[in-house]
Parts: sequence; structure tokens; C-alpha cells
Amino acid sequence: MSEDLAALAAATEAALAAADDLRAWDAVRVGVLGRNGSLTALLKGLGQVPADQRKDRGAALNRLKTSLEAAIEGRRVALDGAALDARLLAEKLDVSLPPRPGLPGGEGGIHPISRTLEELTALFGAMGFAVAEGPDIESDWLNFSALNIPEHHPARQDHDTFYLPAGADGRRPVLRTHTSPVQARTMLGQAPPIRVIVPGRTYRADHDATHSPMFHQVEGLVIDRGIHLGHLKGCLVDFLRAFFGIADLPVRFRASYFPFTEPSMEVDIGWSRKTGELGKGGDWLEILGSGMVHPRVLANCGIDPREWQGFAFGMGIERITMLKHGMPDLRPFYDSDIRWLRHWATNPLAPPSLAEGV
Ligand code: PHE
Repeated sequence: MSEDLAALAAATEAALAAADDLRAWDAVRVGVLGRNGSLTALLKGLGQVPADQRKDRGAALNRLKTSLEAAIEGRRVALDGAALDARLLAEKLDVSLPPRPGLPGGEGGIHPISRTLEELTALFGAMGFAVAEGPDIESDWLNFSALNIPEHHPARQDHDTFYLPAGADGRRPVLRTHTSPVQARTMLGQAPPIRVIVPGRTYRADHDATHSPMFHQVEGLVIDRGIHLGHLKGCLVDFLRAFFGIADLPVRFRASYFPFTEPSMEVDIGWSRKTGELGKGGDWLEILGSGMVHPRVLANCGIDPREWQGFAFGMGIERITMLKHGMPDLRPFYDSDIRWLRHWATNPLAPPSLAEGV
């Protein structure tokens, strides 16, 4: 190979080795093979070469062109590979790591419904309540009849019940319309004294900004000797003030009706209709249903009402969560929208602590 060709080969090799990204590589490629490239110039100059040397010179130039093209392509493949390696390294994700709260996106955070469940368990746990559970698909006897809601009772219509196809006994199971059937399950399954809360999914054929066909309730049931309204009031006032974190939250008990409690009371908390702020403002907001367990319900569940008394209460978990945090709409709870979750999720490594206030 003549000296100028050897020099071009060496210069190109050095320039390729120095090109450490695709941009620099492309500059080398254009500088050699492009329209005004150094090799292109040599090929154009072939016409000026004396005729007796032209054949050898042409063959040498073609060999050089082939080898330079190969070297340039080889460098591109190497740079592509290195770029991919760097990307894979930078985007590496260790899926075996535990959730890391405090990441910019808050991944692994606790859903507000789960958070409220944790808070309920902590608060009522401190008052001596255990957690009981029951199935979502329930017999109409436990969902209604055992609770003193006989067939053709108007309260059955109030519930917009989802019925399932009839079973072997000809009766249609229901998706439970409240957590109250677990009152009956608990009383049938264990002897008093009883002190349980029952968080769980409930279903009603209803859907708008404040109703979802599936939602959550928490039930409470206390059965013991000598239980009276004062116990009910004390328990619920303590709970509501601790849950909402307002020591002087106004709480009002208003006479109401549920077939399974007598007397029955709906409970309101003080708030401002204008600003939505809880605890002040002079307006009242209904928050839960409660009452003394109806003697007929105790008897239906094999408990002697002359010896044992009790109180029960039930409330919507979405509702108290929305009120506590000022959330306007119930539907995003179930949308799995990552932006909403990032905003509302809480740190999984900081479970509710009574010492800090929930
Ligand atoms: N089960 C009632 C409801 O869903 C709430 C309630 C529970 C009322 C326990 C009284 C006692 O509306």
C-alpha cells in the first residue's frame, strides 16, 4: 500500500478509537466516506494517476475502502452495544427490594381505605375490640331475617340488594348489604362477653359521586352484662374524637330507626357546611348508625336478652376517610390512578400509632 493510503488507514483507525459516542463516530464516517471525505477525494483523483499505475492504485483504493467500511461499521456496533449497556445499568430495577417510601413517586404507599382500616383496628384495639370477619356472599337469613328484618319488611327494599341465583334450598343468597350479618355470625359462634369490630366489603346497587356498588363498612358489636346507652355514647365519642384528631369535636346522638337496634340512634358530628371544616361551624353531618342490640336479635342468635345486653354501630369507611381528608369524590378510590394514589397514599413504614395520634 502506498504511503498516503497507509496514512489514511492509520488516521481513520485512530479517529474511530477516539470516537466514544455515535455523534463523534458519525463525524469520522462522513470525514472518510462522505461526499467530501478523504477516501472519496482519493477515489476522485484516480483519473489523474498515470495510466500504467492506475490499475494497481484502483485495486488498492478498493481494498482500503472495504476495510475502512468494515472498521467504521464495527465501531458503530461496539458503540451501540456500550450505549445499551449504559442504559440497562441506569434503568436497573431491583424487584426484590421492599417498598421504599419516600421515593419521588411514593411507590408502595398504603391506599387510604387500607390506612383507615389500620387506624380503626389500632383505635378499637386499644379499647379491647378484636377484629371479626364474614363472607361477602351471605344468606338472606343472616343479612336480613336474623337481624329482625323479615321478608316483605320495607327495610329490605331500602338496601338495593344484589341477589344471586337460588341455591338448593330455593333461597337466593345476597351480596351482603351491610356488615351487620357478622353481628349474628359472631353471636352464633362465640359466647358473650363479645367485643368486636367488623371491617369489610359491602354491596348495594347504587352508583354516583358518593355511592359505589361496592364499598366498605365497619361494624362494631359489644355484648356484656349491664351494657347501656352510656357505654355506647362514651365509646363512639371517644372513637370519633380520636379518629378525626379533634379533642372537642361536637358529637350529637339523634333518635332513629334500625330494625336490629332498640333504641336506635344516628350520630352526627359538628362541621361547617360552608367550608367543610370539621369541628366548628354549627352544622351537623350524619356519620354513623348505632343502637342497643334488639332483644329479638339476641334471641335469634341464641343469647338470653335477660342476662346479656349490647350495643352495635356501623359506618361507611369511604365516608369517614373522605371527611377526614377532605376528599370530594368517592370514585377515585377504585380507579387505580397512579397520580391520585401518589397524592393520597401513606408511608407503609409508619403505621398508625396511638402515641402520635392516628
Ligand atoms: N347496618 C346499618 C347500615 O348499614 C348500620 C348500623 C349498624 C346501624 C349497627 C345500627 C347498628 O346502615
